[in-house]
Amino acid sequence: MPVSLLWCCLLFASFHCRMAFLWIASLVLCSLWGARGQTERCSGYEAINVLKADSYLIADLVLIGNCSSHSSDIENLRLLVEYQTDADSQVFQVQEHVLPRPRSENASSNSSGLQFSFTQSPFAFSVTRASTGETLFDTADTPLIFETQYIRLRTRLPSNPNIYGLGEHSDDFRLPTWNYTRTLWNTESPMIPNGLNLYGSHPVYFDHRGESGTHGVFLRSSNGMDVKLGTSDQGQQFLEYNVIGGVFDFYFLAGPTPRDVSKQYAEVVGLPAFVPYWVLGFHQCKYGYKSIDEVRQVVDTYAAVGIPLETMWGDIDYMSDHQDFTTDGSRYPLEKVRQLVQSLHDNGQHYVQILDPGIHRAGGYPTYTRGAEQNVFLKAADGSFYRGFQWPGEVVWPDWLHPNTQEWWTDEIRRFYDPNSGVNVDGLWVDMNEASNMCESTSCFASTSARTWVANKGIAVRKRYGDPVPFLGVPERDLFNPLYRIQNRWGDISSKTLWTNITNADGTHQYDTHNFYGTMMAGATRNALLSRNSAVRPFVLTRSTFAGVGRVAAHWFGDNASRWDHYRTTIRQMLSFTALHAVPFVGSDVCGFNENATEKMCARWALLGAFQPFYRNHADITANRQEFYLWPLVTQAAKKAIDTRYKLLDYMYTSLWKASADGTPNASPLWFFYPSDSNTFGIQNQWMLGDALLVSPVVDDDSQSVSFYLPDDIWYDFWTFEQKAGGGQTHRLDGVQWDEIPVHIRGGTILAMRTESANTTAQLREKNFRIIVAPGKDGTAKGELYLDDGASLDVGGNKSEIGFVWDGQSFAANGTFGFETDVKVERVVVLGGEGGEVVTHEGPWGLGGGFGFHL
Ligand code: GLC
Repeated sequence: MPVSLLWCCLLFASFHCRMAFLWIASLVLCSLWGARGQTERCSGYEAINVLKADSYLIADLVLIGNCSSHSSDIENLRLLVEYQTDADSQVFQVQEHVLPRPRSENASSNSSGLQFSFTQSPFAFSVTRASTGETLFDTADTPLIFETQYIRLRTRLPSNPNIYGLGEHSDDFRLPTWNYTRTLWNTESPMIPNGLNLYGSHPVYFDHRGESGTHGVFLRSSNGMDVKLGTSDQGQQFLEYNVIGGVFDFYFLAGPTPRDVSKQYAEVVGLPAFVPYWVLGFHQCKYGYKSIDEVRQVVDTYAAVGIPLETMWGDIDYMSDHQDFTTDGSRYPLEKVRQLVQSLHDNGQHYVQILDPGIHRAGGYPTYTRGAEQNVFLKAADGSFYRGFQWPGEVVWPDWLHPNTQEWWTDEIRRFYDPNSGVNVDGLWVDMNEASNMCESTSCFASTSARTWVANKGIAVRKRYGDPVPFLGVPERDLFNPLYRIQNRWGDISSKTLWTNITNADGTHQYDTHNFYGTMMAGATRNALLSRNSAVRPFVLTRSTFAGVGRVAAHWFGDNASRWDHYRTTIRQMLSFTALHAVPFVGSDVCGFNENATEKMCARWALLGAFQPFYRNHADITANRQEFYLWPLVTQAAKKAIDTRYKLLDYMYTSLWKASADGTPNASPLWFFYPSDSNTFGIQNQWMLGDALLVSPVVDDDSQSVSFYLPDDIWYDFWTFEQKAGGGQTHRLDGVQWDEIPVHIRGGTILAMRTESANTTAQLREKNFRIIVAPGKDGTAKGELYLDDGASLDVGGNKSEIGFVWDGQSFAANGTFGFETDVKVERVVVLGGEGGEVVTHEGPWGLGGGFGFHL
C-alpha cells in the first residue's frame, strides 16, 4: 500500500505553494553500496512529468543514483506546488488536531508576493520576492536527500546574514552563522546552556535583509533535527536542515516588514490565546515551601511590607508523595489549602498549582487506577504500560493521542480542582512535559518485555492498531538509534525522555511526535480548565513547547540560574517567543531558579521582569529564599517596579490583546521598528514593549552604568518626560540606582496609563487613566487602548477598542465603547512642546464614548 509523504511549501501574501512528495516505492533497508553516513555521492532527484497551471504545479521526482546516506532512499517523490493563501488540509504529516492549519483560499502565482521556480535535474528550487526579484531561498548548491530517516535540504543565505529564531535556545538573538547548529529536540534543560537544545522546538527562522525586507521560513515538522548555519567550501553562506524523518513541509512568509512576518507566522500556527487581566500581576513561587503555613506567611509578609502580590503558586511540595491531584495530609491539609485559596480570593488575589505528566504507578492511587481503567497510558511492546521515573518514583505517562485521555485528564482536574470541595485554582502550571524522564539512560526497566520492542521494531505494536493508515511514519525504521544522530544534549534521542520507539494510540511513534508531547499536555489542560469553567479565559503555563503552543499556553524559560548572564539571557529568550514564535505571554524565573540570588542582581531582575510579560519570582528547593521583601534594595526596587508596571498594565494588556487578535508582537527587538538601521540588528539587551516603550536595563554584573542605543527618532525619558537629543547614537548612563531602569517613549505614540497603582489588579481596574502623548518627528502621535472585563472568554460586544490621535493641534479618542465603566480619563499630557515643555490638559472625560479637544 502506498504511503503518502508530503513536502509542502506555502507562500504567503497571496502567493502560496505546496509541494508534496508521494512515496510509491516499497522500501528495502539499504546496505547495497557505499559507507553509511556519507552524503557526497548523493545526486538528488530529477523532476519529470511537470504539469503547470495557474494555481498549482505538479511534478514527479525520481532519484538520480543511489544515495542511502543514513537510511533508505525514498526513490519516487511527488512535488506539488500550490499557490494559495493558506494550506490545503489533506497533506500534512503533523496531525491536524495537533497543529491546525489556517483557512484555505486559492490564489494564483501572478498575485503572489513570492515566486517559485525550479530546475529539473538535479531538482532544485528557489523562491524569489516578486517585487524585487531577490532570491530568498535557493536549494541549488546541494542535492536534496530524502530518505526514511534522514532528509536534508540546504538553502543559500546572503553573506553575513541576519537570521533569528529556531527556538528554544539561549544563544545570541541574531544567530551565529559560522559552524553553528541548532538542534530541535525538546528536553530537560537545567541551567539553560548555550549551544544546546532546550525545552521547546520552533522550526521557524526570520531572515532580515535591511531595506530589502524580511521574510520567514517555517518548516512544519515535529521530527528531531539539526539546523546548521555555516559557510561551504566555496564560500557560500547556507542554512541546512538535517531532519531524522517526516517531510519537508515549508511555509514561506513573505513579510516584507518584520512585523508582517510575525503576523503571518501567527496565522499559520494559530493566533495566541488571550490571557486574563490578573495574570499580568506579580506572582510568587518557590519549590520548597514546606507547608501551607509557610505559604501563608509569605502571602502575609508581602502584604505587611506593602509589595503587591497578585498570585501565589503551589509547586510539587503541596502533593502527597509527589502525586498529581493530592495534597499532603500533614503539611498541606486540604482544608487549610482551601482556606488559603479562599482568603486569597477574598483579597482579590489568585492561586495556581503545578501538575506533572508522570502518573505514579501505585496501587490505591485513584488517578492511576482510573487512567489504567481507561487505558490512557503509553504502552510498551507487550501491551503493559510503559514506565519511567519522575518525582513520585515509578510512573506511567499519559498518551495524549489516546481517545480517552482528554476525558480522563478533564475528570481528574474537575475532581481535584472542584471549587466547592477541592482546590479552587485560577490557573494550572504543567511542568516536566518534554517529557522529562529521570531515567538517566535508556536502560531503565531494561529487564521488562518493553525492551523487546527494540528488536521487533514495533511491528507487534503496530498490529495492535490494525492496518497502517497514512502518515503513521514509514515502517521498519530504527526508532531508537537512527544513523543520523542529531546533536541532542543528552546523546541518544531517548535519553532522559520517553523511548522514541513507543507507539502512540493513533499508531504514530514518539520518534515523530516527541516534540509536541508537552504542547499536547498544555492543550489538554486548557481544555480541562474550559470544561471546569467555560466562561473565563483559562491560564496554563507550560515548560515544554512546540510551534503553535501560544494558542493554548504561556511559557516560562525553565530552570535558569541566579546569574547575571541568565538575567541578560531572559531578554533574548523573551524576544524569540514574543516576536518570532507567536508566544506572547512569557518570562523567566525572576531572580533566577538555581543557585542563590544576590541582593543587587535580584533588585535589577525585579525591575527587568516588570517590563516583561510574565512576572514571577521562583526558585529551586536547593536555593535560598528570594522573595522580594528579603533585602532592602530589592524591596525598594520591586515596589517601584510593580507600581510602574501596574500603571502600565492596560498598555501591556492592550498589546497582548493585539497579539491574540492578529499576531502583532507585544515585545519586539529594535530592528522591528527600525528595519533599515543596521545598528539595531544585533541588539539583544534592549527591547520595545508594545509600540511605545523602549526598555534599556543595566545589564553588566553589579554595574550602575549602561550603554544603550537610541535609533534616529524622537525619544522621551519615560521617568522625567524630558526629550532626549541624539537619536541614532549609543548613549551612556552612569550612576543608575538599584531601583532604576532606563525606559524611553518613542515619539509618535500615545500611552494610556492608570493614574496610580494598587494592591491587586482588581483594585487597579477602578483607577482612572492619564494619557501621555509623545509627538514624533512630524508632531503627530497615535495609540490604542483596549478595555473589557478582563476575564470573560467571550466578551461579545462588552469591550472598548479606542484609538487615540494627536495631530499637533487636537486630540481625539474614537472607536467602539461597548465596555461600561465609571473609570475616567483624568488628563491628557502632551510632551515635547516648544522648548520641550509638558502641557497638561485636564479632563475628566468618560470612557463611554469618543472625546477630544483642540488647542
Ligand atoms: C522543574 C521545574 C521547576 C520546578 C521543579 C519542581 O525543575 O522547571 O520550575 O520548581 O521542577 O517542580
